[in-house]
Amino acid sequence: MSDKNTEIRKGLYGVVVDETAVSKVVPETNSLTYRGYPVQELARYCSFEEVAYLLWNGELPSQEELIRFSAREKALRHLDRHLIDLITSMPKSCHPMDVLRTAISFIGSQDPEAYTRDSEHIRRTALELMAKIPTIIALDIRRRRGEGYIEPSRKKGFAENFLWMVFGEEEGSPANSRADIEAFDKSLTLYAEHSFNASTFAARVITSTMSDTYSAIVGAIGALKGPLHGGANEAVMHNFLEVDDPAKAEEWAKNKLANKELVMGFGHRVYKKGDSRVPTMEAAFKELAEQHDQTKWVEMYDIMAKTMYENTSIQIRPNLDFPAGPAYYILGFDIEFFTPIFVMARITGWTAHIVEQNENNSLIRPLSAYNGEEQRPVPPKSF
Ligand code: COA
Repeated sequence: MSDKNTEIRKGLYGVVVDETAVSKVVPETNSLTYRGYPVQELARYCSFEEVAYLLWNGELPSQEELIRFSAREKALRHLDRHLIDLITSMPKSCHPMDVLRTAISFIGSQDPEAYTRDSEHIRRTALELMAKIPTIIALDIRRRRGEGYIEPSRKKGFAENFLWMVFGEEEGSPANSRADIEAFDKSLTLYAEHSFNASTFAARVITSTMSDTYSAIVGAIGALKGPLHGGANEAVMHNFLEVDDPAKAEEWAKNKLANKELVMGFGHRVYKKGDSRVPTMEAAFKELAEQHDQTKWVEMYDIMAKTMYENTSIQIRPNLDFPAGPAYYILGFDIEFFTPIFVMARITGWTAHIVEQNENNSLIRPLSAYNGEEQRPVPPKSF
């Protein structure tokens, strides 16, 4: 068969490349489960720490297991002097995802056992990265604002500690209320895992070459950064700010469609009838907007969602980034940190997949259909 007749699934559209027991997406029923549990129920009843434990161990922790797991995570949150110096020496003009990517590379260089492929070692690495990534992000947020580094707490829960390190306010204060902590914690659970998305697949490709965990995570961060993937949550908020007025939202969306421009935060490669994570995040976003007296974003959200649905032949709907973007804005995070915050959550899913890929590995190496010049001889030199 000539290359021209080869069926090509551009973007691996609809191609099943391997099995996984980490999560299951069923687009027909808008369902997403982590290790068998519906993500909506996990967001409602479990903390992000419990979800991380579940993704790595296959089962939810008992109370004792959770206490031990959380204590280990809290003990790993600090950064050493060299890493702090590296982060603070990076240009403030670079994207925070570049800082995170560099920091993970550096942590990998300090691990003498980086190439160990044993699952227990990978899980330990995963826990260390889960613990340190929020500290790296918070340090980067504060140094760009001209504020000093706040040491991680050894007592606070994961979500609360992050808000503490970013805003320096104790629980109960306006920038660290129980409602803010809960909404943020939910978003982390919703962002934690999503089967063979582009960044997870990138991590699995790198792992399949028998490379190390840190390299796989660095590659995944690079993939997540793009606006068609994780970068969309930042783009969403830039769009909200550009529109700024609910009265302009409908026209803005219609213009985008008329100009055949992508509207970030809409559409999905797998879900074609709605993203299973949106109702939970949308409710959390709307509650935050009420509590912070910022309901104008909700008005814009509803108008844009309705306009996109009614004016596209495929009745396009929001994906998780559409409610997550304005929710993070209301929480007070700087927009360029929305995707790094996504990493804080997705590190759990990535590393669960790295373990799985390692335990049943086959080099990922697809074929391509050649469409260049026919074979030809190198011409005699005329010079
Ligand atoms: N805005 C406007 N039109 C969109 C759109 C969007 N966000 N997403 C898809 N479409 C259009 C496509 O251009 C295509 O139009 P066409 O048939 O005229 O070419 C049609 O809808 C079908 O697209 P589809 O095949 O379903 O998209 P995909 O699976 O190739 O792409 C995404 C999926 C996520 C890359 C795409 O929806 C997108 O770019 N969304 C915006 C970025 C984003 O929010 N990413 C985060 C994903 S969680």
